[in-house]
Amino acid sequence: MPTVLEVIKSTTAYFEKHGVESPRLNAEHLAAHALGKKKRLDLYLEFDRALTEQELAPLRGLVRDRARGKPLQHLLGTVEFHGREFRSDARALVPRPETEQLVELVLQSKVESREFKILDVGTGSGVIAITLALELPQAVVTAIDISADALALAQSNAASLGANVTFVGSDLLPGEPAAFDLIVANLPYIPSGDIPGLSREVRHDPLAALDGGGDGLDLLRRLIESGVTRLVPGGKMFLELGHDQAGRVAELFSAHGYRDVCAHKDYAGIERFVSASR
Ligand SMILES: C[S@@+](CC[C@H](N)C(=O)[O-])C[C@H]1O[C@@H](n2cnc3c(N)ncnc32)[C@H](O)[C@@H]1O
Repeated sequence: MPTVLEVIKSTTAYFEKHGVESPRLNAEHLAAHALGKKKRLDLYLEFDRALTEQELAPLRGLVRDRARGKPLQHLLGTVEFHGREFRSDARALVPRPETEQLVELVLQSKVESREFKILDVGTGSGVIAITLALELPQAVVTAIDISADALALAQSNAASLGANVTFVGSDLLPGEPAAFDLIVANLPYIPSGDIPGLSREVRHDPLAALDGGGDGLDLLRRLIESGVTRLVPGGKMFLELGHDQAGRVAELFSAHGYRDVCAHKDYAGIERFVSASR
């Protein structure tokens, strides 16, 4: 029977042939998952161990699905975000590393120690709202989404991580006239015409998590407009955007009378976020 290392090598070669990005990393993650390891690096202690047929069988299905484009996070069932493990499945967008930077921007901004009302719009799996609730215990966090599936996933993540977040089903801002100190959102921003050209992995994300309308800015336009009456004076909004949208989003904020409009780069040097104060 093949050893752990041989299986990793043959899986890596198979993934390379099928156009899977980071083939070795994917092979190691799936092997660790199939063998019940807590961490991928635990495999390194067992490279020379021969695997039994019983151990190989579940791995074969995972490898086949990954080669066909199913996202790694759906196969593992989890994703790490800001040092915590969240459940991830087809009910909501797979959280992206850039969004961890959005959360870091929020945490670096002046967040006061008094009761502080935060709204996460389009919460998906809940990563933003739950991380902020856990990092800022003085904050009162509400999270909304139009998708009942996403809200169910977010609620189960909040329960398993012990986060106190109020989840509300709503089309953008909820009806009652609560005022928020901070609104944060990673809403869909991909122009509808670009959806068919997305990678097969991204097309596993729900369409409602991707499609931002004709120019990609339909939802951001509505949110910026309605935020004017839903942020307290001096309250802030932080948005995540597509790679070429910062200029247009900054103009939208300015046109609606926001102050301190500021674009922020991600680690790849792309202006990925815009913040503004009311
Ligand atoms: C790009 S995903 C982001 C999910 C999560 N915030 C994250 O960063 O991983 C966008 C989310 O917005 C939700 N959404 C789309 N249209 C919406 C609307 N009109 N009102 C509220 N949520 C909406 C989608 O269901 C999806 O969960």
